[in-house]
Parts: sequence; structure tokens; C-alpha cells
Amino acid sequence: MKKLLMLTAATTTLLLAGCSRDYTPAAGATGEDIFKGACLECHEAIEGKDNVYYELANDKKNAEFFAKKISSGSLMMPKFPNITGDNLKAVSQYALEHSASK
Ligand code: HEC
Repeated sequence: MKKLLMLTAATTTLLLAGCSRDYTPAAGATGEDIFKGACLECHEAIEGKDNVYYELANDKKNAEFFAKKISSGSLMMPKFPNITGDNLKAVSQYALEHSASK
């Protein structure tokens, strides 16, 4: 029983700790480059809408929301510790400009 508990704890830790990507933007990368390199794999365009990736409520439709999500991730989404500074601003802005209102 104790073994089972420890195994469960170890698996949970692995899942949470695994939620980080080491994607690093190339020098001079634009917001679009970073989005295509880091986000597109999971965030496809909304069906029927070209280049619109998110539908957000107005309180989330800002660059800070994107920046926070990219830096912190979530249970489901990896965080990107190597997207920082101007790169973080650029990709947040790009994603915001390609979002629709809910
Ligand atoms: C491995 C898959 C994966 C990658 C890569 C990924 N995401 Fe996500 N993202 C998710 C999942 C799953 C969710 C939904 C769960 C959640 O909100 O945490 C999500 C949610 C989000 C949300 C919240 C949307 C909402 O409706 O509240 C934003 C914003 C977001 N991602 C931005 C990004 C950006 C920008 C990048 C690239 C830097 C990125 N994601 C990369 C999987 C991913």
C-alpha cells in the first residue's frame, strides 16, 4: 500500500514537472515566428476562421493574459521559461491580434 502511494506521488510530480518547454526563440524572431514555433502545434486556427486562434472573454483579451499564460502554463499547457522580455511581448501581441471576442 505504501509503495502504491509513493508511486502515485512520483507520477503526479513527473506530470507537473514535465509541463515546461525549452523552446527558445531565434535571434530576431517575430511574434509570428515564435507563435508558429511554440504554439501552433496545440493551438490551431478556429474552424472557419483564418489565423484566429483564440476566442476570449473581454477580461482575458489583453497581452498580459497571454504573457502570464506563456510564463506560468497550467496543468494542461506547458510553460515557456525561455520566452522572455521582448520575445514574450511580441508573441503575446501576435496572439492577441489573432484572437476573437467570445
Ligand atoms: C502542448 C500543447 C500546448 C502548447 C505548445 C501551447 N499551449 Fe496554450 N493551451 C494548451 C491547452 C491544453 C490549453 C487549455 C487549458 C488551459 O487553459 O490551460 C491552453 C490554453 C491557452 C490559453 C488560454 C485560452 C483561454 O481560452 O483561456 C492561452 C492564452 C494559450 N494557451 C496561449 C498559448 C501560447 C501563446 C502558446 C505558445 C507560446 C501556447 N499556448 C502553447 C496547450 C498548449
